[in-house]
Amino acid sequence: MADRVFCIDFGSAYTKVALRRDPTADSTLLACRPAGVGEVEFCVPSTVVVDRRGAKPVPEFGDRAAGMLAGGGVDVHTNWKKAIFLAPGARPHQSPLEALLQSPELAELAAKYGVAAGQIGYLNQLVAAARTLVSGPGGRMISAEAQQQTLAATIAAHFFHWLRQQVLEACNKLPATGLKYDSIPVRISVPAFAAPTGGGDPHPGCKLLTDALGKAGWPLHPDTAVVSEPYANAVGVLTKATNAAQKGHIRLGEMFGKGPLITVMKSTADHPVYRALVIDVGAFTTDFAAVTITPADGNDADPDARVGVSQQSIPLGVSDLDERLVAALPKEKGEFLRKASPVDWEDLRPAVYSTGKGYRTAKVGIIGGPADGDAVLGCVESVVNQLTAEASKFVASLPAVPHGALQELILTGGGCSIPAFRDALQGATVGAGLTFVKTHAPDLKKTVGGPPVGKLDVAFARGGSALGGASLYFEPEYA
Ligand SMILES: Nc1ncnc2c1ncn2[C@@H]1O[C@H](COP(=O)(O)OP(=O)(O)OP(=O)(O)O)[C@@H](O)[C@H]1O
Ligand SMILES: [Mg+2]
Repeated sequence: MADRVFCIDFGSAYTKVALRRDPTADSTLLACRPAGVGEVEFCVPSTVVVDRRGAKPVPEFGDRAAGMLAGGGVDVHTNWKKAIFLAPGARPHQSPLEALLQSPELAELAAKYGVAAGQIGYLNQLVAAARTLVSGPGGRMISAEAQQQTLAATIAAHFFHWLRQQVLEACNKLPATGLKYDSIPVRISVPAFAAPTGGGDPHPGCKLLTDALGKAGWPLHPDTAVVSEPYANAVGVLTKATNAAQKGHIRLGEMFGKGPLITVMKSTADHPVYRALVIDVGAFTTDFAAVTITPADGNDADPDARVGVSQQSIPLGVSDLDERLVAALPKEKGEFLRKASPVDWEDLRPAVYSTGKGYRTAKVGIIGGPADGDAVLGCVESVVNQLTAEASKFVASLPAVPHGALQELILTGGGCSIPAFRDALQGATVGAGLTFVKTHAPDLKKTVGGPPVGKLDVAFARGGSALGGASLYFEPEYA
């Protein structure tokens, strides 16, 4: 148990940190980004740069790192969260060179240039011999994934060390509380596929992150150092970061007692169940959570509600759209984007994915404007199709709710600022037969005759997992 806690929502693109400074204080997001930089002050770029131009390598983090261009001795690491959660051994231990040598394409090329098949065979033997020489007889070459994971572990320790300084500085700017912020423990949110399930060894990615936090000087939460992103996000959004307890027990009714849930509590006969479907489209994963709250039997005004959760994270997000865009654009624009800084990308995404106006550059003209319309549309459609299929599958896997249940759809994450993604998720869930009393999302506009909508505040649209992860809800002693 911890009376106070930090929660790090470690995002592939942006990291967010929230603090619960007392058991029943509201959880709050920490403004770790310098004032005036970027749109959202609590979204810290997860970019890490190693600048090798001088005598000694110099690491850079956050906004400074995000403004740097790769190349000429500057290594820019973005989306390294992916490497943390890639399971080594999931793919065969084959190097890209071996894959090339054994590919049908090379055989075809060899035939075209008149290279004898035997010569390709010798080349294969040569590479195999070199592999044995490096790794020892019978030894296995370290896979590319394992190498990336090892690098990401080092990056993580440095990043969390830097993040801790930013967090403590942000805390020192809070109204004086007399708290010793450096002794407050931390927990971290991770994709649902890596979250602890109550038994067995932790996912290697979680172990790697908690080890990195330890190396960086963060004391870990004693019982719940890791929470699942979709679950934490749903709790953050639905409780609106409220923490309520009485006599050492959390008051679920008070914490979740906002919006339609109150109606369910008051009139269980008409509305027996409340369910929120919370979908977060991030840079690395799309997270689905369905939280079903059934009031206790009887007419208790503040019933001890019962909470059921189904959740899933799938590796699909805005970074996949970015990769597809780079590959689909004309060569010089793709090359330009490959080297562009994360700050450039931050400006480019809304201009290309949301408004379609395009992103103006001096070097290669407008990227993603009307001239590239077909390429952009193709990329957006390919991600939309996957999102639609995954959302439909998730909805189909949910236990049925009784007639009269009140359901809400809540769309969060930077990806849900992209209109085509929002439309796809609304279409897939409504298409699967769900009806919502309200849909909440950033920038959602009510259409004539359309269902009721709620504009979701950016604190919940982007900070839900950090806020929810810091919730009293995840303190087992208060349950
Ligand atoms: N208005 C917008 N239009 C287009 N893209 C946007 C907009 N706002 C934010 N994004 C992008 O959405 C992506 C996802 O942001 P978010 O902060 O949700 O990701 P994350 O939490 O870092 O990722 P993950 O949770 O998958 O690790 C980012 O690449 C961000 O640049
Ligand atoms: Mg996220």
